Amino acid sequence: MNKLSKLLAVAAVTVMVAAPAIGAGYYRSPEPYDWSFEGPFGEYDRQAVQRGFQVYQQVCSACHGLKHLAFRHLGQEGGPFETVMVDGVEQSYANPNDNPVIAAIAAEYLISDIDDIGETIERPGRPSDMFPYPFANEAQARAANGGAYPPDLSIIVRARHYGADYIRSLLMGYDEEPPADLDIRAGSYYNPYMPGMVIAMAPQLWDGMVEYADGTEATTEQMATDVTHFLAWASNPHMEARKRMGLMVMIYLFGLAVLLYASYRKVWSRVKH
Ligand code: HEC
Repeated sequence: MNKLSKLLAVAAVTVMVAAPAIGAGYYRSPEPYDWSFEGPFGEYDRQAVQRGFQVYQQVCSACHGLKHLAFRHLGQEGGPFETVMVDGVEQSYANPNDNPVIAAIAAEYLISDIDDIGETIERPGRPSDMFPYPFANEAQARAANGGAYPPDLSIIVRARHYGADYIRSLLMGYDEEPPADLDIRAGSYYNPYMPGMVIAMAPQLWDGMVEYADGTEATTEQMATDVTHFLAWASNPHMEARKRMGLMVMIYLFGLAVLLYASYRKVWSRVKH
């Protein structure tokens, strides 16, 4: 056997061995959804972000943290509680720490801190606190979830291929029969959108499990869409300001181009050519 045929034989064996492994890792592309925040002028839907936050609070926060988010961020410019109803009047606050809705949300959480004499205490949250992590540490999180680690969700929409479409499809993608050749162990679930098609998170959403403050009907699809909208905002809270700035820059550059062309015409108008 010469060198080339040896190489070809090795390549053929590699493909034969590796192909089933690659096949097993196959997963379904997420269903595309028409998000309001896509495109150069896209914006978040405040109502959807508020509803999604409610789903996060009532369902996901039992296992998933939001370590990059402070309560006050909910009330900053572009946040879901930037304007709130106080005694029937719409209000906005330059400093989110003064926002009573944010203060009420923060006060629902217990935050560990130290007091004046250095003792560890638990106190109600304040707008300036970060969202607390639901477990004491990673080992406890894994122990409570059969060895799997629930990832932090504050930048998950940016951290996953297909972003928001993937998260939404994943949350809705449980109710199918798994293919016969897929090995699903106890504590794992079939989900065709998860790379590898097996996930250690049980289905989380059922029709009607949340009672939305704004009266929207809480179907599984509605909750999956809303919580993903909230997580998209959390992953990219300054998106709207950035898009506005981008638009201003384009307008400015266009004006500058017109001006430069006019001055070019003027400067060269006296030259014969
Ligand atoms: C009972 C605990 C629990 C709850 C409640 C929970 N999850 Fe999970 N979640 C997990 C675990 C465990 C994993 C890790 C799964 C794995 O690695 O297979 C996970 C993984 C994820 C992932 C990552 C998938 C990936 O691509 O790696 C996302 C996104 C997610 N959860 C979103 C949510 C959302 C949104 C909610 C609320 C609607 C929620 N989870 C509620 C336990 C939970």
